[in-house]
Amino acid sequence: MYIPIILGTAREGRQSEKVAKFMLREVEKAGYTTEIIDVRDYRIPATDNTEESPTAKKLESKVVPADALIIVSPEYNHGYPGELKMALDLLWKQYTKKPVGFCGVSNGKMGGGRAVEQLRLVSIQLRMIPIFQALYFPVVQDLFDEKGEIKDESYHKRVESFLENLVSYVKK
Ligand SMILES: Cc1cc2nc3c(=O)[nH]c(=O)nc-3n(C[C@H](O)[C@H](O)[C@H](O)COP(=O)(O)O)c2cc1C
Repeated sequence: MYIPIILGTAREGRQSEKVAKFMLREVEKAGYTTEIIDVRDYRIPATDNTEESPTAKKLESKVVPADALIIVSPEYNHGYPGELKMALDLLWKQYTKKPVGFCGVSNGKMGGGRAVEQLRLVSIQLRMIPIFQALYFPVVQDLFDEKGEIKDESYHKRVESFLENLVSYVKK
């Protein structure tokens, strides 16, 4: 089963990368194939006539074979980053019926919850299946050690349950 992880910010110094890399290791540990789809690699100047662009084709080659998707997104001004929306908008029908789970990230205590709620609405329009469970990573700047390992052990169990929920929606 192939479950790629979309890293939703291109910001220099992004903390969300630590979360995406943590999720990558956890998804691999659970026995699934995965990789990070970094929005830095899918940047476009505008959203017009992009469907046939090489960037869209590149994203399509990752999204079409995906059994499910994970989106790691920080919260920027109570929403999700613009570059994430521009990357998602490169495709449309390719997302149909793909289960999607969200990981919210913030430096405050909310854990990116408001960004996740907005992404749920967008994912419905993209014909995805947003799952009930989400993972939140508040105060992210304190959550990982210098090696990038998560300090709060309870996340391992939480990810396990999140992945079980996500995979339960994958079409047999
Ligand atoms: C443009 C911008 C807007 C932000 N707005 C919020 C916000 O609304 N709520 C919040 O909890 N954190 C906000 N933050 C802080 C992020 O939570 C913080 O940068 C955190 O490390 C996750 O984002 P990162 O992956 O870019 O580092 C904002 C950061 C930026 C760059």
